[in-house]
Amino acid sequence: MCGIVGYVGPRQAAPILMEGLRRMEYRGYDSAGIAILDDGELVIRKAAGKLGILAQELVGAEPQGTTGIGHTRWATHGAPTTPNAHPHTDRSGRIALIHNGIIENATAIRKTLLARGHEFISETDTEVLAHLVGAFYEGNLEEAVASALRDVDGAYGICVISADEPDVLVVARNGSPIILGIGDGENLVASDQSALVEHTRSVVYLDNGEMAILTPDGYRVRTLTSRHVDKPINQIEWDLATIERGGFEHFMLKEIFEQPESLENTMRGHLLEESGNVRVYGLKMDDEQAKAVKRIIITACGTSWHSALIGKYMIEELARIPTEVEYASEFRYRNPIVDKDTLVIAISQSGETADTLAALLEAKRRGASTLGLVNVVGSTIAREVDGGLYLRCGPEIGVASTKAFTSQVAALAMVTLRFARLKDMSLLEGQEYVRAMMKLPSQIQEILERADELESLAESFKDSTNALYLGRGVNFPAALEGALKLKEISYIHAEGYPAAEMKHGPIALIDENMPVVVVAPRDAVHGKIVSNIQEVRARGGRVIAIVNAGDEEISQLAEATFIVPETLDLLTPILTVIPLQLFSYYVAVARGCNVDQPRNLAKSVTVE
Ligand code: F6R
Repeated sequence: MCGIVGYVGPRQAAPILMEGLRRMEYRGYDSAGIAILDDGELVIRKAAGKLGILAQELVGAEPQGTTGIGHTRWATHGAPTTPNAHPHTDRSGRIALIHNGIIENATAIRKTLLARGHEFISETDTEVLAHLVGAFYEGNLEEAVASALRDVDGAYGICVISADEPDVLVVARNGSPIILGIGDGENLVASDQSALVEHTRSVVYLDNGEMAILTPDGYRVRTLTSRHVDKPINQIEWDLATIERGGFEHFMLKEIFEQPESLENTMRGHLLEESGNVRVYGLKMDDEQAKAVKRIIITACGTSWHSALIGKYMIEELARIPTEVEYASEFRYRNPIVDKDTLVIAISQSGETADTLAALLEAKRRGASTLGLVNVVGSTIAREVDGGLYLRCGPEIGVASTKAFTSQVAALAMVTLRFARLKDMSLLEGQEYVRAMMKLPSQIQEILERADELESLAESFKDSTNALYLGRGVNFPAALEGALKLKEISYIHAEGYPAAEMKHGPIALIDENMPVVVVAPRDAVHGKIVSNIQEVRARGGRVIAIVNAGDEEISQLAEATFIVPETLDLLTPILTVIPLQLFSYYVAVARGCNVDQPRNLAKSVTVE
């Protein structure tokens, strides 16, 4: 979603801001803009559409100046037009502001300001905030921002500059991430580490209710009520190469191919082969506390919700703890039954998804203990949970989640082992799980080496308009994930179903044009799924099946099969999802779709 970047220092700001915005493009946006302080004047350039349009407008006309702010906007209130793009200015035109989030009382503030003669040129809450800052300005930007924010309800990450204070950036956070990038003789700010890492790896994460004042030589953090805050400096652990495409045509393909390594990183240091157990200090839960957990609720959105469903199968089967999976957006507005014996696990790649965060805070308010399975270090969810596990799969830039999914499932398998070994799981069974998990990265590698089979398969299915994905047991969520991947990047309508459920409605859709992707490794329900495939074939459906080697029965029924290596039943989705990811990718490429930035989608959904 929206991206913020700011620079103050000795270098020209415009190219730094444009590059920072480019690095955040993956988050999804529909307009962009920059504001530069040019010799005591504020120069603003903005454009609806992709960053390339703004870049084109800057050719030969780039504003000169060493302090500036830049923004990519993902429209929520107000269309993605140039007037609605950020930065917005105050009434004097000398203060510029960019904003991620939503100001909830903007309508009331706007009304008051209109009565005082203010005029607005956009439909945005951000312009209202810029005017409010201007209304409080008496020669001190920091104080004007603090005063304005004390009148504001809602979520924000903001960055503000004033033509009257040339070497100052003022930023503030409440609910939307703001990260300071600490440089040498220069400082930066961004809503996403990827915009900073080219310039510095030393960062400070602002917390809610905090502001920072940055100049070329230093920075200061305070609360809205002027209390000084000492903040630790953290180091970003990855470098620029990690967020480059590295020879791959798309980030999504790169990330699919990174999975042997990303999965290895998720599990590194946690698996204990000899004791058939895991050691995850981050869970911050001793044996007594773990034994006291009577019920688990896993909450998440989208792909992370699919991994949560797999977690339910694992936890109930092996650890025998009743587990529910809830869409975070539903959980937050229900009256969920949660008490101190309930463990709530929030799963989020970004750690910033608004619904997941709100569900987590609601669970905490009701007394639950909480765990987070999060990828982005220092993200809000990671900092709100009692304990958790970083996925450590590296930045995921492609909008469609791939490597985070396999890492989430592996993380859930580790959490499961932690509980299961305290219950009925024997040493031998624990060892069997640990060994099977250790083999997964090389098994994924085996699949990736045959990616070209899926590329040719994609070619013969690329003109489909609908697709059905079927799976049973733990591979039902894998089918859901396969369908989501296909629809979000190729715009082919796809649905995932538990295979037997097909008879209760979706079977009506099946004809000779309908591709049916069946996830059918040789597991406990294999025989059942063969019958489901027969039902599809009897109606002329085109079956693509994901199977284990030597599955003659399904090979004879299916139009095409793709073989995945064998593993323990509950771990199979980590392998079966890889061909589903690749198939979607190749179909989308064959259809000429923008794989890394599919229409209407944002990487991190920080609004409800
Ligand atoms: C799908 C996808 C989304 C995210 C969802 C949750 O490919 O990426 O469905 O999984 O928006 O995001 P996180 O995991 O960041 O909370």
